[in-house]
Formats: sequence, structure tokens, C-alpha cells
Amino acid sequence: AKRFGILTSGGDCPGLNAVIRGAVLKGETVYGHEFVGFKDGWAGLVYGDIMELNRSTVRGLSHEGGTILGTSRFGPYTEPDGGPDNIKKVLKNLGIDGVIAIGGDGTAAASKRLFDDGINIVGVPKTIDNDIDATDYTFGFNTAVEIATEAIDRLRTTGNSHKRCMVLEVMGRHAGWIALHSGIAGGAHVILIPENPESLDQICAWVTSVKARGRSPMVVVAEGFKLPEMTEAYSTKGLDGFNRPRLGGVGEVLAPLIEERTGIETRATVLGHIQRGGVPSAYDRVLATRMGMATADLVAEKGWGQMVALHGTRIDRITFDEALGELKTVPQDQYQEIRVIFG
Ligand code: F6P
Repeated sequence: AKRFGILTSGGDCPGLNAVIRGAVLKGETVYGHEFVGFKDGWAGLVYGDIMELNRSTVRGLSHEGGTILGTSRFGPYTEPDGGPDNIKKVLKNLGIDGVIAIGGDGTAAASKRLFDDGINIVGVPKTIDNDIDATDYTFGFNTAVEIATEAIDRLRTTGNSHKRCMVLEVMGRHAGWIALHSGIAGGAHVILIPENPESLDQICAWVTSVKARGRSPMVVVAEGFKLPEMTEAYSTKGLDGFNRPRLGGVGEVLAPLIEERTGIETRATVLGHIQRGGVPSAYDRVLATRMGMATADLVAEKGWGQMVALHGTRIDRITFDEALGELKTVPQDQYQEIRVIFG
């Protein structure tokens, strides 16, 4: 039987296990294929560290958060033993005919390079940020929005009791999708996203007008938002070698500034990795399962160099190149549409 190896790479995301389960169940049942999992992202592939995956090991997995395979932000070309020649040897020794890489843009870029270097590989797009342009939604996003919305609901009652302004920082380095959707769902008075700078004056004007109506202001801010007056000093490079800004903490910068300017007592909450943990929502379980099953078809048809993607209600196929286009950020018109009701 043909044998395929699955890996999960980059930040984890609710729904990864449902993808693995969907691929294994369909691949085994419909095509008689066998599956293994590479442990801890690309490291498992480079070092041949695998675990068996079959109908019984994936049982009950669709509601489990995280990834049973483990993940890392390690790249297939960066380790001393990395690179296509070694990976080809590992695959040959383990009798593996192709690789399924589940990950975000970094994973898709690495997968494309491996594909160009002659490795049989397909991909599944993953990010809670929902910023991959080639797919309408990524699993994990809906769960993150649910968690952030619940956080807003909870912050509102304590904020109201103390008549405070509450600032909630959610994830989203480059795209404000989680902030936008949870902010709308939770009825936030102000939503701040990386795509759209707002001045402290404007933010304080909204906060003051909410307070003037006797309400407790609720501000949702994406971690990648920057006040025009914030400098590079607020961002540092990632410690993991990925040359990416770590902007977490903007909520804690913003809260004292709001308090100082408006005189309204203000508290910040950084939601952090809580929005990536725990059980996936039903929507994400369904999307992830469908993507996993579609991936089983993709490897059966030797669709190397391609990824699955959601378009409308359909699971389509796209090339790695298409997946690596521009990031999907929040369009100005979508933001402006909701901005008119801020304050
Ligand atoms: O890309 C997903 C994401 O959760 C971002 O929203 C966030 O900026 C980043 O990962 C956090 O990365 P890490 O888990 O490595 O701290």
C-alpha cells in the first residue's frame, strides 16, 4: 500500500487534529493507504521521527485542540541535517511516498521549495489569523473568534460594575480579522487593527463619548496595531529565528495612555494563547475534516505541489504559488463600514 506522512508546522491551531483524522480515515477507507505522522513539524521529517497513524490512533480526535503530532517553527532547510537530499533519503528509508504539510505561509513557502527540489508534497492551509488570501476561511479562526467574543462578554460585566474602560488585546500580527469579527460580535465600542492606524486623540474621543452616555467603553485591539506615535521600540524580533515582529503588549501600552488622557480608569487584558487552545468550534471541526478528506484525495491523485482551499462552500485545489500570494488583510471598506458606529 502507498504510505503518506503528515506533519503540522508553525503555531498550532484548533482543528489540526480533525484534519489528520479526516485524511487518515478517508485515505484508509477509500484508497487503502497507510499514514504516519512526523513529530514536531519539519524536525520529524528531517530526522525520520514518526508515529503510526491509523483508524484507531485518530479515534475521537476531531474535538481535540492542538496537534497530536506536535509542532515547531523549525524549517526543513535550516537544520544541519535539513535539505532535500537528506529528506529524500529519509522518505525512501521509511517507505513514504509523499508528504502532507499542514501549516501557514512559512510552511507553504518551505513546501514549495521542497516540491521544486523534487519532493512529493501537498499542503493544507492553517492559521487562526485567517490571513491566507487563497482560501476563504482557515480552520481555527472561527474558534479564536468565539473565544475572543466570550472574553469581551466577560470583560463587559466587570467593566460595567467598576465603570472602567476595558481594553482587550487579541492576536493578529498583520491582519485584524480576529479583532474585527470578535469586536463586532461582542459589540465593542472601538476596534483597532494593524491595517488602519488611528490616533490616540481619536481613540480617546470615542472612549469619552461612550462614557458620556453612561456606558463602560470596550476597546478591542489586534496585537499588530500601532499608534502613529508608537515607535519601533515597541516591537522586537521573534526569538525563534523567524524574522517577524513581536508586537504583543499593545493593549498594555494603550490602556495607561487612555487613562491618562481621558481620566477614565482603564484595564488591559492580553488574551494571548488562550485563543489558540482548547476544543475547536463545530464550524472548524467540519472545515478541518473536509480539508483532511480532500487531502486524502489529493495525494491519491498525486496532486503534488498543490494545497486544498475553501472557496465559498467548496473545497478546491490551489498551487503553492497561489497560496503564497499577498496576505489577506481587512479591506478598508469593510473596516470603514463598522468604524462609523464606533464610540
Ligand atoms: O500566526 C498565528 C499566531 O497566533 C499569531 O496571531 C501570533 O502573532 C503568533 O502566532 C504567536 O506566535 P507564538 O505562538 O510563536 O508566540
